[in-house]
Amino acid sequence: MRIFSVLLWILFPGCWAVMGPGAVRGPPGGSVAVRCRYRTGYEDYPKFWCQEGGWFCSNWFHVVETPGSEAEVKRGRVSIRDNHTQRVFTVTVENLTLADAGMYLCGVQRSGFELRATVEVTISSGKSRRCPPAVSGLPSSGQSQGA
Ligand SMILES: *[C@@H]1O[C@H](CO)[C@@H](O)[C@H](O)[C@H]1NC(C)=O
Ligand SMILES: *[C@@H]1O[C@H](CO)[C@@H](O)[C@H](O)[C@H]1NC(C)=O
Repeated sequence: MRIFSVLLWILFPGCWAVMGPGAVRGPPGGSVAVRCRYRTGYEDYPKFWCQEGGWFCSNWFHVVETPGSEAEVKRGRVSIRDNHTQRVFTVTVENLTLADAGMYLCGVQRSGFELRATVEVTISSGKSRRCPPAVSGLPSSGQSQGA
């Protein structure tokens, strides 16, 4: 089974608490992976994924949610996994259908105050018109001062 992952994130300067890719695209029947980053200090808070409904999650319902640990939580076709070291949690939706398209939120759950980013999920088998994501490894710092 082919796994399509769209890993986009937009780096913008300034303050942010949770940063998502903004938009992801996956083909019907395929899968999509959404990586959301968070700031230092939020490692042990629960992370969630939900459908957007106004300012909050639709019906206050989280599709998947971690307990704050790095253990993967799966509900049906949707899974979420946190990585405290990278401070990134990844939401994966498998077996995409057209009904999965829409606006979602990925976020960090804190009592009384959610930190989240909006993610638009598009279901399309067409090629993305966006540039492919330029997510590469860490830049190598090979600045040796040889004599
Ligand atoms: C995805 O679809 C395949 C084929 O229909 C099925 O075997 C698999 O269990 C499905 N996966 C999930 C997570 O629903
Ligand atoms: C988190 O990411 C790091 C770096 O890629 C990796 O070494 C580590 O195994 C990951 N942890 C989990 C729980 O996946």
